[in-house]
Amino acid sequence: TLFQNTSTQIFRCELSKITMPIVFNEPLSFLQRITEYMEHTYLIHKACTLSDSIERMQLVAAFAVSAVASQWDRTGKPFNPLLGETFELTRDEEGYHMISEQVSHHPPISAFYSESLNQDFSFHGSIYPKLKFWGKSVEAEPKGTMTLELSKHREAYTWTNPMCCVHNVILGKLWIEQYGTVEIVNHSTGDKCVLNFKPCGMFGKELHRVEGHIQDKSKKKHQVIYGKWTECVYSIEPKVYEVNKKAEKKSGGDSKKHKQSTGGDDADEMPDVQETVTMIPGSTLLWRVAPRPPHSTQMYNFTNFAMTLNELEPGMIGVIAPTDCRLRPDIRAMENGDIDTASQEKERLEEKQRFARRERAKDEEEWSTRWFQQGNNRYTGAADWIYKGGYFDRRYSDLPDIY
Ligand SMILES: *[C@@H]1O[C@H](CO)[C@@H](O)[C@H](O)[C@H]1NC(C)=O
Ligand SMILES: *[C@@H]1O[C@H](CO)[C@@H](O)[C@H](O)[C@H]1NC(C)=O
Repeated sequence: TLFQNTSTQIFRCELSKITMPIVFNEPLSFLQRITEYMEHTYLIHKACTLSDSIERMQLVAAFAVSAVASQWDRTGKPFNPLLGETFELTRDEEGYHMISEQVSHHPPISAFYSESLNQDFSFHGSIYPKLKFWGKSVEAEPKGTMTLELSKHREAYTWTNPMCCVHNVILGKLWIEQYGTVEIVNHSTGDKCVLNFKPCGMFGKELHRVEGHIQDKSKKKHQVIYGKWTECVYSIEPKVYEVNKKAEKKSGGDSKKHKQSTGGDDADEMPDVQETVTMIPGSTLLWRVAPRPPHSTQMYNFTNFAMTLNELEPGMIGVIAPTDCRLRPDIRAMENGDIDTASQEKERLEEKQRFARRERAKDEEEWSTRWFQQGNNRYTGAADWIYKGGYFDRRYSDLPDIY
């Protein structure tokens, strides 16, 4: 009944209640997946060193775009974190560490907190991926605020990630689109950077494109930002950008049309994306994506960064919290290619989680989160999860047994 009537796109359902076969998964937990925001942390380090606030905002914008770049071609579904599951990433060479915790199961909410080891910045937030099923596609709205604080500059920036859509979940080739407006607000002054992640549209020409600008409180434009979230981001003076755009329009640009099926039972094909970003003379390159490793397609299209996330190094055993995703037996079995064990273990863990919930209900006991507490974002006032501190003191004796 669930997959009936798929072409009408009129019904929605809560996908988190459906058990999908494990073959649609990738061997990472959603907590590890959100840690991929940190792949381009060097952009924040660089922003901290700049004295010009517009230049800082440009790098923050580049960081916000780079944070969602690893989504490209990643149609494998990450494992739903268990309540109380954590993930730690310590990167001494890159000068930061990060901790995340699954703080709610229904709805699923993941909270994270990262900071630089030299106290230059902290980056934190919570994510509640609200899924909608639209017949042929699944749309994920990543509810939750990202907050970046640059302590030396006494600056705080907040934004919300773009929408993410996986096309052709029933038939045809899966592909990913991200779209929506991302507004990065500088709370010290009310200046902002407005980034438009463009939907691919009827002609497909806009696929992956990001365009936006930095404006001050009086709405004066300071810099235009453009590029693709899959590729690179440039900044340029608004005047130069406008002149260039007009010239392009006059010459007709290229209007290669993309036939997108509207309705019907056909798959929505992904438009051709051969076109790379053309640099407009006078632009500054802010960020360029690192190429994926050669064996990426055999490895769930992971980036180099993603490939390292589930590594359990000898030095970690007995050091990381016993709730860390790296210790989850189902993900580990899947990584080792043992799908049957992965499937059985996943079922066992989910049943264990249900049993623990029933026991709590009997005793009228509430679940208490360990590293984060519910609160409001200092800058936006929105509901958020605030890091309580203490994870890196490594006192883990009273953590729940979730595996
Ligand atoms: C951000 O806020 C700081 C206030 O501390 C201000 O100096 C700066 O102009 C603002 N910059 C941008 C680009 O929004
Ligand atoms: C990986 O990328 C390839 C090439 O775009 C695509 O065909 C494949 O479906 C992707 N695999 C996953 C698991 O996302």
